Amino acid sequence: MPVLLPEVLEWLAPRAGGRYIDATVGLGGHARAILAMCEPDGRLLGIDADDQALTVAAERLATYGDRVVLRQGWNREIVALAQEAGFDQVDGILFDLGVSSLQLDSPERGFSFGHDGPLDMRMSQRADLSAADIVNGWPESELADVIYGYGEERYSRRVAAAIVRHRPLHTTGELAEVVRRAVPVARGPQRIDPATRTFQALRIAVNAELSSLPQALKAAQSLLKPGGRLVVIAFHSLEDRIVKQYLAQEARDCICPPRLPQCVCGHQATLRLLTRKPLRPGEAEQRANPRSRSARLRAAERLGAGDTR
Ligand SMILES: C[S@@+](CC[C@H](N)C(=O)[O-])C[C@H]1O[C@@H](n2cnc3c(N)ncnc32)[C@H](O)[C@@H]1O
Repeated sequence: MPVLLPEVLEWLAPRAGGRYIDATVGLGGHARAILAMCEPDGRLLGIDADDQALTVAAERLATYGDRVVLRQGWNREIVALAQEAGFDQVDGILFDLGVSSLQLDSPERGFSFGHDGPLDMRMSQRADLSAADIVNGWPESELADVIYGYGEERYSRRVAAAIVRHRPLHTTGELAEVVRRAVPVARGPQRIDPATRTFQALRIAVNAELSSLPQALKAAQSLLKPGGRLVVIAFHSLEDRIVKQYLAQEARDCICPPRLPQCVCGHQATLRLLTRKPLRPGEAEQRANPRSRSARLRAAERLGAGDTR
């Protein structure tokens, strides 16, 4: 079951005749529910960087015929992809960020330390940079910065030094072992595998997940009709902070620093926030799908000329 599905449908509110974009279509779980809700003639454009995911999505969504269009690409390219597919002005856009279960559960994709695989972690098989390039090629200080900045790993310098000492590393299993040996053992019920944070950091760096997010959100927003909805699910605090700040800024008329006596930016709100606080999965969903635990959903609506927030 896709993460926060009832909440996605409530806030995206798909209806007959509507045009929707799933900017991270993955295996098509959310897309299928959106298409079912906008019958008989609503249409959906599904975008994903991952060709493998798109193959699965195409099979799962085949019953919807030409009501669904799938495109390979990064969602920061959403405007060009949408225009080319005839989706200029749309009623709703969904981002369900992060990795899919297909990616996590395929050892050969190298996302998970649960299975041994090559150090890959590329969402797009067409991309050049892989985790092996970073692990084996980046200077120690840059490696440490990535592990600290994207993994929030307090022992980032130790981890980076250990990685450099053990180069070259070839598999997720080797990397996980090096990280585990570099980080002191945590205690208590909440402890997670010490390799988790480093793997998250590398994955984010390989796929430019955080650096491209503001650009993707801005581009998506430009495709929304007045009243069109933007729904974003983030899976870790760094990602959610970017979404929260972006939406908050777009929901404000002036974004000048508070010390300025009067507005010089001329910024005008383009969005109305629909969720003041992020929505989280309930206990039942978290139990049924442990990966949903960290999900946070935020939604906003595009303002039209003369609309008030
Ligand atoms: C959490 S999964 C989406 C699952 C999907 N909602 C479903 O119900 O099956 C995230 C998907 O987004 C893709 N993805 C992540 N960031 C992307 C980006 N910046 N551009 C394009 N695709 C991206 C990943 O390849 C992955 O397939």
